[in-house]
Amino acid sequence: MKTLVTYMSQTGNTKKIAEAIYGELKGEKEIKTISEVKNLEGYDLAFIGFPILQFDIPPVVKTFLSANTKGKKIAIFMTHAVPEGFEAIHSWTGSYKQAAVGADIVDSFDCQGELAQPIIDMLLKSDDPQMKAFAEMGPLTKGQPDESRIQKAKEFATKVQAKV
Ligand SMILES: Cc1cc2nc3c(=O)[nH]c(=O)nc-3n(C[C@H](O)[C@H](O)[C@H](O)COP(=O)(O)O)c2cc1C
Repeated sequence: MKTLVTYMSQTGNTKKIAEAIYGELKGEKEIKTISEVKNLEGYDLAFIGFPILQFDIPPVVKTFLSANTKGKKIAIFMTHAVPEGFEAIHSWTGSYKQAAVGADIVDSFDCQGELAQPIIDMLLKSDDPQMKAFAEMGPLTKGQPDESRIQKAKEFATKVQAKV
């Protein structure tokens, strides 16, 4: 069984989760950024990870999912600044299901990631009140994903691989 972990990460949070997942996987495995992956040919399972940006999944990830995941076994992982269970979260994360239509989505995982200080500073200057509100909750995200979230990501990896 050959497994790929591929991810997009601007400030390192999703990369931490990707590495935690990768570390747990049994069998043949590879880890790459999404921009390094041409397609999913030759992999039996692909973990695909990204951050939530502006209340949605990143456009480049949408394109990747819709071009490459039809008929493939995939597992999704995401990081976001709001705490897990935040009421609007499903409306932001849910669009991966439309983008990956036709894929066999084995499971998904999401957790909080730190909002980096340069991003806080940038968002504070935004005219969008929602973005400003994010910036104000930025300090509460410090240190995420922490060890307990990393541990949950590892358990997710094991659970997904056991299902496939
Ligand atoms: C431009 C921008 C927009 C963001 N929008 C959201 C958002 O809508 N909801 C949210 O929970 N987090 C949002 N975030 C926070 C990121 O999802 C979070 O910091 C994530 O862990 C970043 O992952 P990375 O370090 O792998 O890039 C945003 C971050 C940036 C830079």
